[in-house]
Amino acid sequence: MTKSADQYDQVAAAFADVEAIISFVRENLEWPSFKNLLGDLRGLRVLDVGCGEGSFTRRIKQLGAARVVGTDLSPGMIALAQQAEARNPQGIAYEVQDLAAMPPQGEFDVVTAIHVLHYADTRETLQTMANTMHANLKPGGKLAILSANANSGEESETAAGFRTYRPANPKEGDKFKVAVLTTPPTEIEVHHWPTETIIDVLQTAGFTNVSWDLVKPSTAVAPADQDRAARCAKNPTSLTLAAIKQ
Ligand SMILES: C[S@@+](CC[C@H](N)C(=O)[O-])C[C@H]1O[C@@H](n2cnc3c(N)ncnc32)[C@H](O)[C@@H]1O
Repeated sequence: MTKSADQYDQVAAAFADVEAIISFVRENLEWPSFKNLLGDLRGLRVLDVGCGEGSFTRRIKQLGAARVVGTDLSPGMIALAQQAEARNPQGIAYEVQDLAAMPPQGEFDVVTAIHVLHYADTRETLQTMANTMHANLKPGGKLAILSANANSGEESETAAGFRTYRPANPKEGDKFKVAVLTTPPTEIEVHHWPTETIIDVLQTAGFTNVSWDLVKPSTAVAPADQDRAARCAKNPTSLTLAAIKQ
């Protein structure tokens, strides 16, 4: 897991460039789809695991959540999140924590995990992550995940500004590189976790009502952006999953 913290400390250094590339798919497909999944957060306690520099964590707070905690493995990303909080205080608490070794942070109504599960390097680690998210929820609480689509297509990856070096016929857990097309490209190592595997570990952790859907373009995409958004939506780079703790 240390490797993941190292690679994100490097991403933190180039974060503005990475954000400029990924903002199209995040603004036009990912956030609108994820926001729909979240529903009404007013007054709720939300834990955002793998929060990175907190761009979605802040949006979660702005949806009216009463208490928001963001955790991330990378000290560099948490430092960026804390700097943003210092510049514009919203009352979000951030902490360096490894999702695969995190003690309970409290009882939350909602746990969010946005582009973090594919850093699990073994199925055992993925299971521990699922168990940890379950342990941090109140009974009846909701888990909302935005995750890489293990079957994304080249056209949507290119439109989103990525290149994925997934092996042909990947096996569960296989490691591969994803490059965000900054100059030079920013490469990240991730692991192949098919949706069925994620559903399986969530159910083993005790989650029920597990459902998933591919991200879709928002109805508010600007006319000039609709062609690119449609390409991003063809076999898109990400999907959402939801589950309930009984
Ligand atoms: C693609 S970024 C997503 C950040 C944020 N959720 C967002 O969407 O803006 C992935 C984040 O997961 C974090 N991460 C990777 N492995 C982790 C782990 N085991 N525990 C907690 N965070 C982890 C990385 O440090 C990085 O900040």
